[in-house]
Amino acid sequence: MKKQQLTITYEVFSDISELDPDDRALLLNARQTTANAYAPYSHFNVAAAARMKNGNVLSGTNQENASFPAGICAERVLLSAISAVYPNEPVQSLAISYKGDLDNSKRPLAPCGICRQSLAEFERRYHQPIRLILGGMEGEVYVFSSAKDLLPLDFSKDDLDENTR
Ligand code: THU
Repeated sequence: MKKQQLTITYEVFSDISELDPDDRALLLNARQTTANAYAPYSHFNVAAAARMKNGNVLSGTNQENASFPAGICAERVLLSAISAVYPNEPVQSLAISYKGDLDNSKRPLAPCGICRQSLAEFERRYHQPIRLILGGMEGEVYVFSSAKDLLPLDFSKDDLDENTR
């Protein structure tokens, strides 16, 4: 038996004003786009904004449903829209923000497990890491250089290819 260790490195900024201009604009976009969320059940508005390789920026929000499991997270709404409208366009960076009705959005929100899996698929598909910028409506901002950092040992196409015809 041997033990292995995984280490994740990310940047912590004390405030959005410390970010470089492109990252700041993307996080601002995500913050503002939380107003477009359809979250009548959770009252938890989430928004994601992505910058594509061609420079275009697109955003998405969570879309809930009276049948709760039919709801979709902001990140996957956005990735699906990009994949449908710009199928050949890799995503370079993606900002995520949120706002609940308690107005207590003061720390970064990390994407849920299913969204991490979708982000990992996107990175593999385009051979391009997605820079993640995570921040609430105020407070610290975390920047990860790749979404994969949030999902080590992910399940991928490689597992299928190695084991199936
Ligand atoms: N949600 C997202 O949109 N992204 C996440 O990464 C976490 C959760 C949404 C799903 C649901 O509409 C609400 O937040 C509460 O879970």
